[in-house]
Amino acid sequence: MTTAYIGQPLSRLDGPAKVSGKAKYAFEYDVPNVAYAYVVSSSIARGRIKRVDATAALQLPGVLQVLTHENTPRVAPKGEIVDDARSPGVPFIPLQSDEVLFNHQPVALVVAESFELARYAASLVRIDYDAVDHATDLKAASGRAYVPKPRAPLPPTPKPRGDAAKALAAAAVHVDVEYTAPAEHHNPMEPFATTVVWEGDGKLTLYDKTQGVQNVQGYLCSVFAYSKEDVRVLSPFVGGAFGAGLRPQYQAFLAVLAARALKRSVKLSLTRQQMFSLHYRPFVWQRVALSAAPDGKLDAIVHEAITNTSRFEDYSEQIVPWSGLLYQCENVTLDNRVTKLDLNTPGDVRAPGASWGLYALECAMDELAVALRMDPVDLRLKNYADRDQIDRRAFSSKSLRECYRLGAERFGWGRRTSNPRSMREGNTLVGMGMATGAWDAFQVPASARCVLNADGTATVSSATEDIGTGTYTVMTQIAADALGLPIDRVTFKLGDSQLPEAPLEGGSFTVSSVGSAVRAACEKARARMVADEQRGGKATVIDEQASTMPSPRRKDASCYCHSAVFAEVRVDEDLGTIQVARVVTAVAPGRVINPRTARSQVMGGIVWGIGMALEEESVIDQTFGRIMNHSFGEYHVPVNADIHDIDVIFVEEQDEIVNPLGAKGLGEIGVVGVAAAIANAVFHATGKRVRDLPITLDKVI
Ligand code: MOS
Repeated sequence: MTTAYIGQPLSRLDGPAKVSGKAKYAFEYDVPNVAYAYVVSSSIARGRIKRVDATAALQLPGVLQVLTHENTPRVAPKGEIVDDARSPGVPFIPLQSDEVLFNHQPVALVVAESFELARYAASLVRIDYDAVDHATDLKAASGRAYVPKPRAPLPPTPKPRGDAAKALAAAAVHVDVEYTAPAEHHNPMEPFATTVVWEGDGKLTLYDKTQGVQNVQGYLCSVFAYSKEDVRVLSPFVGGAFGAGLRPQYQAFLAVLAARALKRSVKLSLTRQQMFSLHYRPFVWQRVALSAAPDGKLDAIVHEAITNTSRFEDYSEQIVPWSGLLYQCENVTLDNRVTKLDLNTPGDVRAPGASWGLYALECAMDELAVALRMDPVDLRLKNYADRDQIDRRAFSSKSLRECYRLGAERFGWGRRTSNPRSMREGNTLVGMGMATGAWDAFQVPASARCVLNADGTATVSSATEDIGTGTYTVMTQIAADALGLPIDRVTFKLGDSQLPEAPLEGGSFTVSSVGSAVRAACEKARARMVADEQRGGKATVIDEQASTMPSPRRKDASCYCHSAVFAEVRVDEDLGTIQVARVVTAVAPGRVINPRTARSQVMGGIVWGIGMALEEESVIDQTFGRIMNHSFGEYHVPVNADIHDIDVIFVEEQDEIVNPLGAKGLGEIGVVGVAAAIANAVFHATGKRVRDLPITLDKVI
């Protein structure tokens, strides 16, 4: 394979369509005779619907239908519900009973001739409830925490090694601390939305916001008993998605329900407020206890975590295994529990598990470094692991040592003075902190198709997604190189359930998985072309498909992407305001396919990490069991004014084990460790250890 394009910082091929407004999102398709649906959300957290009065809504001219549990047929007649990212338990399907399981649950759907009318009519739907007591407070419910069934394909929490309790008790130096953090809700620019085109013959075409067109197709087929030929799901452009789109969301189900009831095309978009009724990063409590010899050699790690799940599903994350993986230590005990709350099920949000787990571990490592009077980077290097410490396999590659070195050098870590509050400038307290990041380098089965046309162009396709990550661009680069064609002769298609089978766009595994399939399909097509030419055949269309499985060599190796994050904060001593002045992150991602899109991914992750450390917080009013700050006015995310210097260094690795492309994936590593680096920097600046995210000024002052 040539590498004319792989490794080049190409601009996004879909960029012009996006900035000129030509790229259409799920709600924007012009469909004749379309009706508009609007969701009515519950105002209690737990109980039953006593009565629905839709009279006033239905009297308005132009209101077509009000769907509730009373007039909605029961679905999912038999069998398993398809949902590739589901948790153990019974998935929530709206309007199937009078039961209310969480506040803001969809309880009715108004369909009308216009969006405005549907929205107004929804405000007239009266719902009476029989409310019962709810539990929405993680801390209050933590006594009921239990070890959940592992969520396939994630392995169970690793078993203890050594005797951590004994080692802790005997330790020369130890820290034993608790960290808490609130839920964070997905808030991409594009809300979840669906346009259902009623094709007349009972067939459906959906434009849906999702991270998996075939997953949504499979879900709809299973709940409505369609065959795959009856349902086509398209999602060529997605206005951001960080995990919520891994599962089919309820607006897709409701839009199909309405289309079936009216035998008509239907559009449905959630409001920003309703976005807070979807999946979210769970509330978390963590305890990390570490002990070490005076020279910094770790001798015990205890990491316990409790997150919330819903009443009806066991969603759990791999929060604690990172603490068994990353550092050499003989005595390790890990415990991961969940507790049921009357909230919707949490879900995967960018780097699920690692985001919370490495936040706590890496803050505790900083606390240990302080207790040892040791440099935080030196403490990591002292305990550096050249093998996976859980299963003892060698890493396929691990350049974390280089990440520490290059990151520290670029950041100017050497200028850091060790004592807290020792780097002030006037009344600005300056602090420097660092942390380690890690994320799995997965590879999963995928397939792709390559059509070589007689005019020398190629169309390559797979039912994957581009959620803003750059999939269109990098797949085209991979295809052009495999075919030996100029890139402007190659078109890549995605986001259509009719294309060759692809996994959900998540887990940072799209390049490794779909990219490998794209390369294999293109190599097959090219080989066919060469063979045809040798036989003197004339130009015809060549059409090849390939499916790839995870590389067999992965079985003997442990595959992770690593990073070292360095942050500088400036804290106003009088006001407690925190500015993240600089972040330098060094990432070891195997091979970089496109340095520009790669850097954007990591930058985006860092921005999110700044939000995680300082801003993001879904706040529940425990009286109502309801998220109060469900708008961008009150749910804070970083804006331009919050973002200053961000510097991304790639430490490329030659990794022939991880997958044929050697690329580990960059969608998630960027966020991991950032909150810890910032929290550690805040401590270094102020001498105050805030163990409850987000670190707001009231906690610092
Ligand atoms: Mo990512 S949480 O796998 O979309």
